[in-house]
Amino acid sequence: MRAWRVNTHGGPQEVLALEEEVPVPEPAADQVRIRVGAAALNFGDDLLCRGTYQLRPELPFTPGLEVAGEVVAAGDQAGIAEGTRVMGVPALPAGGLAEYALADARNCYAIPPTLPDRDAAAMLIPFQTGHIALHQRGGLKSGETLLVHAGAGGVGSAAIQLGKVAGARVIATAGGPEKVAICRELGADLAIDYLAEDFPARVREATGGEGADVIYDPVGGDVFEKSRKCVAWHGRILVVGFAGGAMVSAPMNQLLFRNYSLVGVYMGEYSHRDRPFLDRVHAEILALYADGRIKPLIHAGVPMEGVPAAIAGLAGRATAGKVVVEVVKA
Ligand SMILES: NC(=O)c1ccc[n+]([C@@H]2O[C@H](COP(=O)([O-])OP(=O)(O)OC[C@H]3O[C@@H](n4cnc5c(N)ncnc54)[C@H](OP(=O)(O)O)[C@@H]3O)[C@@H](O)[C@H]2O)c1
Repeated sequence: MRAWRVNTHGGPQEVLALEEEVPVPEPAADQVRIRVGAAALNFGDDLLCRGTYQLRPELPFTPGLEVAGEVVAAGDQAGIAEGTRVMGVPALPAGGLAEYALADARNCYAIPPTLPDRDAAAMLIPFQTGHIALHQRGGLKSGETLLVHAGAGGVGSAAIQLGKVAGARVIATAGGPEKVAICRELGADLAIDYLAEDFPARVREATGGEGADVIYDPVGGDVFEKSRKCVAWHGRILVVGFAGGAMVSAPMNQLLFRNYSLVGVYMGEYSHRDRPFLDRVHAEILALYADGRIKPLIHAGVPMEGVPAAIAGLAGRATAGKVVVEVVKA
């Protein structure tokens, strides 16, 4: 089969190789083989190529963390029938940037006929992450103020939409006027260019000096540091990711006297620990999509050949929303 492979670690444009004769992967007893219709790229794909992601599969491997397609083979304990259309998180090393990917059955979710592969692939990680972060971890309440960083990004664009659905007042930040305009189109009540403006001052001004109740932070670094200046009393800063590169820390005495919480969010662990909970999350997300209340923000569809440049663009802040790879069916 045709698959992108990483044979040695490095930048995606240096190390990704499109190989034509990769063996079709065989599912284990609790896995399925998916004929990939569409694969969505994630920031993690860049880190996977570089060997700096939290998962470090043995070389060679195929990246790709998010797919939609059809189950064409299933292990005898998988419990998913062949022919079922699913969206899923692939099991590395048989990732999604290939004609066929493997996925653990617990990381697959059935999708209705009305949901095209392109949208399904682009929805799974951003909307599950956003839902878990805002509700289960952040306890977001209607009427509260939610601040979403990198609001035009993959996970940020989903968090804006889910925040509005939850009845929050949403403030978004993004880098540059085009991305700021996208945040507004997604429903943000206020959008701030955090490369050009002092966002903590703008957030305090917009909240009568109180600050944001919940801060969704997939960036870290300087953005996290500044977030601590505009978090409300009883506020929750959701630590979602480190797209800015820098790990962060906060002085504990500030948590105490400002009475706010730092809350970790790791979507990838939930399928191991509480799949029934994720089933409820998935059902809610599908219902919101069916009602037209949420929609994945898709930056572009690219052919298989465009993958290395697309991953580099994503990691280099050149994308708004998800990049979806249209994988040619075998
Ligand atoms: N915790 C979880 O369960 C979970 C799940 C999914 C993803 N994540 C994490 O969330 C983060 C975002 O992932 P994503 O796939 O949705 O990516 P993305 O948001 O589509 O892209 C990252 C965005 O981060 C912003 N950014 C700020 N500083 C940056 C820098 N120095 N370099 C690159 N980007 C920078 C950019 O937006 P601006 O140009 O607007 O600043 C960029 O578009 C990643 O760290 C990822 O690992 C975590």
